[in-house]
Amino acid sequence: MTIQWFPGHMTRAKRQIEEKLKLIDVVIELLDARIPQSSRNPMIDEITGAKPRLILLNKADLADSERTAEWSRYFRDKGHMTLAIDANSGTGVKEIAGKAKELLKEKIQRQIDKGMKPRPIRALIVGIPNVGKSTLINRIAGRNIAITGDRPGVTKGQQWIKTGGDLELLDTPGILWPRFDDPIAGFRLAATGAIKEDVLHIDEVACFVLQDLVRGYRPILAERYGLTDLPAELPDLQSAVDVLEQIGRRRGCLAGGGHVDYEKAAGIVLRELRAGKLGRMTLESPDEFSETASEPTT
Ligand code: G4P
Repeated sequence: MTIQWFPGHMTRAKRQIEEKLKLIDVVIELLDARIPQSSRNPMIDEITGAKPRLILLNKADLADSERTAEWSRYFRDKGHMTLAIDANSGTGVKEIAGKAKELLKEKIQRQIDKGMKPRPIRALIVGIPNVGKSTLINRIAGRNIAITGDRPGVTKGQQWIKTGGDLELLDTPGILWPRFDDPIAGFRLAATGAIKEDVLHIDEVACFVLQDLVRGYRPILAERYGLTDLPAELPDLQSAVDVLEQIGRRRGCLAGGGHVDYEKAAGIVLRELRAGKLGRMTLESPDEFSETASEPTT
C-alpha cells in the first residue's frame, strides 16, 4: 500500500463516509493502541460530526497495557466512550455492543418511552488503512467477508452484519487517511507497519523509533540487543544512529570494510518491534499531547 492522499482523495473519502453516516446510529473509530494519536485521522471530528462515537484501541495485544489504560482515560476525559480490543484473537470484541448501547442509552430510552421496540444499533467502523477494520468486521461476522473498497453508489448495495444481539454492522468500513502532515506521526505509522517502509527511509524510521523506545522501554532494549551503556535519552539523530550502529554490530549486520549495514539493522529492529518480540510497547503517551488543546487531533 502506498499512501497517496491528495485533496481529491480526501474529499471523496469524506463524502463516502458522510453517505454512510446517514444509515447508522454510531461510529466505531478504530485506532492502533500502540500509536493512538498518530493513527487518528486529523479530521475525524469534522467528518463524523455529531454522530455518537465509540473509540476502540485495537491491537491492544501488542501495546503496553498501562499505557493503554492511560489512553483510555485520556479519551474518556474528552467525553469519548473507549474500549481496548484485540480483533485478531477477539479479546474485548463481545463488549462492543454493550458499549454502543451505553452510548445510545438516552435515544433507546426515548424509543421505549414512546412504546417502540428498540431495533439493533447500526454501526460503521472507520479507521486508517491497516488498523484492523477488516479483521474486526470478520471477527464480528464470525466468517470471512470479502471486504472491498468503496465504489460509487456502493452504499445502496451494502449489507448489515448481524451480531446476533443488539448491534448491526455495515459490511464495508470507512477508510480514513492517516496523519501524513505530521512527520512524527509518519515515523510512528511507518514503525508499526501502517504505512509502507518505502515511503520513508527505513533507517530513519528505526532511528526515530529508537528514541521512543529508549524513552519508554530502555531496560528491555538494552537487554534485547546487549547495549551495555545505553543512555536514558537519545536527544538527537546522531545518538540514535550510534545505537543503531551498536545493534548492527551485535547482530552481525556488516557491509564491506567493516561498516555497519544500517538498513539491515533497522530492518531487524522494526521487524522485531512489529512482531511483539521486544514485548508489548506503546510508542506515544497522552502526556505528549495533553497540553496542546482540548481536542488536539483537529
Ligand atoms: P484494515 O482492514 O484496517 O486495512 O486492516 P486489516 O484488518 O487488514 O489488518 C491489518 C493487519 O493487522 C493484519 O495483519 C491483521 O491480522 C493485523 N491485526 C488486526 N487486528 C489486530 C490485533 O488486534 N492484533 C494484532 N496483533 N494484529 C491485528 P496481516 O494480514 O498479517 O498484515 P500485515 O501484518 O502483513 O500488515
